[in-house]
Amino acid sequence: MILLPKIAIRGLGREIIFIQGGMGAGISLAPLAGAVARRGGVGTVSFVALDRFVERRIGHKVSHHEAAELEIQEARRISCGNGAIAINCMVLIERTYIPSIEGAIDGGVNAIIAGAGLPMTLPEIVDNAPVSLIPIISSGRALELICRRWSRYEKIPDAAILEGPLAGGHLAFRAEDIFKQEFQLEAIFERVKIIAQKNGNFPIIVAGGIYTREDIIWWINAGADGVQMGTRFAATHESGASKEFKNAIVACCSEDIEIATNPGSPAGLPFRVIRTSPGYQQALIHGRKILCDKQYLLNKDKSGRLGCPALDGNDAFCICNALLSAADCNNVSELPIFTVGANAARVDRILFVDELMDELIG
Ligand SMILES: Cc1cc2nc3c(=O)[nH]c(=O)nc-3n(C[C@H](O)[C@H](O)[C@H](O)COP(=O)(O)O)c2cc1C
Repeated sequence: MILLPKIAIRGLGREIIFIQGGMGAGISLAPLAGAVARRGGVGTVSFVALDRFVERRIGHKVSHHEAAELEIQEARRISCGNGAIAINCMVLIERTYIPSIEGAIDGGVNAIIAGAGLPMTLPEIVDNAPVSLIPIISSGRALELICRRWSRYEKIPDAAILEGPLAGGHLAFRAEDIFKQEFQLEAIFERVKIIAQKNGNFPIIVAGGIYTREDIIWWINAGADGVQMGTRFAATHESGASKEFKNAIVACCSEDIEIATNPGSPAGLPFRVIRTSPGYQQALIHGRKILCDKQYLLNKDKSGRLGCPALDGNDAFCICNALLSAADCNNVSELPIFTVGANAARVDRILFVDELMDELIG
């Protein structure tokens, strides 16, 4: 049996097997991230709405900073000191981005994984704290821009995650490009690898559609340094997905998985969903007005005022409420939307992380 080569990410102080991708809201919390790390992977906690999930766990309100700090500490406790713990932060969720990074550092996080926008000022935010910095990109151009900007701080990425168009969650591609050959992971990988080699030769970790141990070996042979996987970990007992979400993953077939654009995510990026998700069905018939009572996704408008981008006349669903419901952390009258990767139809049962790690590591 071929052993999976381990990934050496600068600053982690240990080699790791692969990365479990951050999944918000509330899908990858401490129980999932800790269990993956315990088996030698990078377990990634999602920062999305973490204050609500930590409040539910400990029974009182916390700031965004405290939420990140406490959840990272809990993940580290579960990991028994094995593997590594990361936090996934999305640049476009401006309001909680910096406090979550600072809180995670105080909680002893090993790596900051930042995407959904270019994390141009990340080195400045972490201010020499001993954490690995790992941007998520979907093109060579994005990686070039980050490397150029980070050179001001005399910093290069410790690794980068190249996420292709088969991934779950938001996709950094134009909707019309998602199924084109030239935008598939295999096609965009080579240029990204060359840019990494020119800028200090940091590892490139690929994500999106990777499902089996054979897929991992295929990518290693193709020159990737490692992989990140999401959907398979969403379908574990340790994930924070609701029972209804997990059942929907097992039940769905490939025709049920589509790219939501109109109605779409207020983030303005294509968003892969299970079509039968109750909240998406409701949005398709314009059944829910956006009230924006959770207010995580607030961006500055042209006049500098903070507001939910969904209220700017876009045909969008309320993603805050839909995702909180998909993790059983909301008023039951708010209907959930389930996001998955393109390969979710292959999931036929819910596994424990240990079973999945046995299957993948071999
Ligand atoms: C339920 C779910 C939620 C996700 N949420 C996020 C997120 O909050 N931030 C992020 O950077 N990526 C997110 N992703 C993407 C994953 O981290 C991962 O890169 C991707 O799903 C990999 O593709 P795969 O699902 O085919 O393995 C999410 C994916 C899923 C399935």
